[in-house]
Amino acid sequence: MDVTNLPLPRPRRVVIGATAHVGLSERLRALRGDLEIRGAPHTAVTADDLSWADTYVGFKRPPLPSMGNVRWVHCTGAGVDSWLQPTELPRDILLTRTSEPFGLYIAEWALARALAVRQHLLELAESQRRHEWKPREPGYVRGSRAVIVGTGDIGSSVGRLFAALGAEVHGVSRSGRGDPGVFASTSKVSELRSLAATADWLIVTVPLTSDTRGLISRDVMSACRGAVLMNAGRGATVDEAAIPEALDAGWLAGAVLDVFTVEPLPADSPLWDHPRVMISPHGSGPTTIDGAIAGFLECLGEIERGERPARAVDRDRGY
Ligand code: OXD
Repeated sequence: MDVTNLPLPRPRRVVIGATAHVGLSERLRALRGDLEIRGAPHTAVTADDLSWADTYVGFKRPPLPSMGNVRWVHCTGAGVDSWLQPTELPRDILLTRTSEPFGLYIAEWALARALAVRQHLLELAESQRRHEWKPREPGYVRGSRAVIVGTGDIGSSVGRLFAALGAEVHGVSRSGRGDPGVFASTSKVSELRSLAATADWLIVTVPLTSDTRGLISRDVMSACRGAVLMNAGRGATVDEAAIPEALDAGWLAGAVLDVFTVEPLPADSPLWDHPRVMISPHGSGPTTIDGAIAGFLECLGEIERGERPARAVDRDRGY
């Protein structure tokens, strides 16, 4: 739990620290003319901004030693780990997360890649580039088996889409619980290794916490029997250095990665050139202006009513 003194004083001065600060500020001003707003990319936010503000909105912490007079931070990204690691936001500052439906976006990201793999889209594009008539037997998502690590909003949305195409979907979560309308079964993390051995798709959607760091270890990968690993959570939940070996040994048939331990992925990473790795630059679940503002206003309304926001981050769980 955080130790924020609630209710908070009514938020008045908001710093928006985001690349899209102009659009976010314009939208917020139009909806809440009573708030004073300053905006800048998070790396350009100043100590003066933070001592002026009572509220900060953004995905990442500005590179400054203190959050000044900020009493409330509203994170606009799907994962709040950059507010907790390596330096935790002081627990007397309220940390909330957005309500943006990232699961819907990430589900389409995952399904697009699953279809690309099964339908050989990359190979067909390459053949077309060479004017080469080379038929390939398509495979299908229907009848395949997806093991989804993380059964929250993102994992459930991915599972729903795979199930709609006829995949058998199993979940893995800390509690061993998942929506039975989506997951044919949900197991605890202690069973991850044995489930990985049954997966055609091993899809990682968990946030980065001390429990999930390195969860998809070399040992888990070595249990796989030709699964395609997908990661849309955080790079550090997977032992990234073990991926090339896992592909070459046939443990993994492919790796579909949106997130990396170091971002941008360094130009000399072997992942770039591996023929069975598909890379996207951390874009599977983008923050939108509409979604970010809606999420902020939802929490603001609760604070103004003197309530603890439903989307306050649980500091001990880390999400
Ligand atoms: C994230 C994001 O948390 O991009 O990964 O929002």
